[in-house]
Amino acid sequence: MGCASEIAQEALRGNFRCACGDLYEVTYPGWSGAGHTRPNPSALRWLWRERRMSGEAADRSGVWRFREMLPILKDERSIVSLGEGNTPLFELPRSADRLGMTLLRAKHQGMNPTGSFKDAGMTAALSVAKERRFAWVACASTGNTSASMAAYAARAGMRSLVLLPEGRIAWGKLAQAMDYGALVLQLKTDFDGCVRVLAGVVERAPVCLLNSVNPYRIEGQKTPALEIAEQMEWEVPDHLIVPGGNLANSSALGKGFLEMKRLGLTARVPRISVIQAEGANPLVRAMRETGGERLEPVEAQTRASAIRIGNPASWRKAVQVIRETGGFVEQVSEAEIAVAKAEIGAEGIGCEPASAVTLAGLKKLRQQGKMTAEESVVLLLTGHTLKDSDYTIQFHRGDLLTEPESAPVAAELGTLCRNTVEMEARVDDVLRELERAGR
Ligand code: F0G
Repeated sequence: MGCASEIAQEALRGNFRCACGDLYEVTYPGWSGAGHTRPNPSALRWLWRERRMSGEAADRSGVWRFREMLPILKDERSIVSLGEGNTPLFELPRSADRLGMTLLRAKHQGMNPTGSFKDAGMTAALSVAKERRFAWVACASTGNTSASMAAYAARAGMRSLVLLPEGRIAWGKLAQAMDYGALVLQLKTDFDGCVRVLAGVVERAPVCLLNSVNPYRIEGQKTPALEIAEQMEWEVPDHLIVPGGNLANSSALGKGFLEMKRLGLTARVPRISVIQAEGANPLVRAMRETGGERLEPVEAQTRASAIRIGNPASWRKAVQVIRETGGFVEQVSEAEIAVAKAEIGAEGIGCEPASAVTLAGLKKLRQQGKMTAEESVVLLLTGHTLKDSDYTIQFHRGDLLTEPESAPVAAELGTLCRNTVEMEARVDDVLRELERAGR
């Protein structure tokens, strides 16, 4: 990405960084010309839909049924799949109404096998690691990557090493990594510190790094873009809104949409906008202060622990996608995230806190007049609501936000918070509550 030099797959170094220090991106030489290796769009669309009916697990996977778009394996028998992808595209009618918009949808990547969008990239990168005969895989994580990696490694019969910032990840995610048999090390540092330590480990031990600097992760993680287009009959939304942490997901989806257009599968690309939490906003600052030329790491702080990241690895890729697609960058407060999360819950869908920055960000973009009522918008929801139940319960009990945080959203909290009612086990008492709630 930095010096524009190209290397063959076999020459990739274990830290997935070029000598210039920047990240790699996978490119497919056959796609550049008009040669016979360039895939045929109509044939592909037909084939990809047809595969969903197949008896083969790899054909049904929402990642590998698009395998012509990610020819990264030498042998398809290397595929390690948990039936990832094929996630729903939900309408959010109540949120759309509130925002005065015609059509608002959510692509729910939390509906993946381990409950987050990471599975799409993990099946790709772990299958490559298996093909290369690694015994160990490793990642630093705010939780979801570790859960996903541990599950796929277990399926493949490989060992996994997880570095987590101690006390700063949601229990659901930690429980998953433990249950899937990972070696879980909780380091006395933050996510960015875990990344630094792991870089040192990878230099000295034969482990395959599965953080999103691994370019094969991005290849899998671009497939939700294909699914969105397929779910919209090969149209694309006007606008896609993505949460920003380490900034791999925005990069991956941008790559997916741009490649689809280049291959003639779709006619255009959506704007791709990235939303960060105010306390973990290095990209927002980089865009505002330097136009995306430089990024100063920040000390990250947010209750949306998945995106508590101060020094995002893929920021250059994200800047390129935002520029190329005409997207925006915005930040949202803790209270705005909490309210948006409850609103997505009240649609019967739910998501984890980091995903809710998308709806909170959309509200801001609407207020700023950056999009019209008719624009079709898709929010990318990254994690399942069960990932972080503590956050949800604290919110509904009124224990999550401080008073100064709550004040600007007091009205919303009044209608959204649903605490439980403790009472005697008597029919009359239950009926009284039922009547009160119906009023
Ligand atoms: N949403 C969720 C639920 C996440 O877990 C993450 C990142 C993001 C959004 C941000 O995506 O990093 O590609 O910009 N989680 C990572 C992890 C870093 O370790 O699980 P990004």
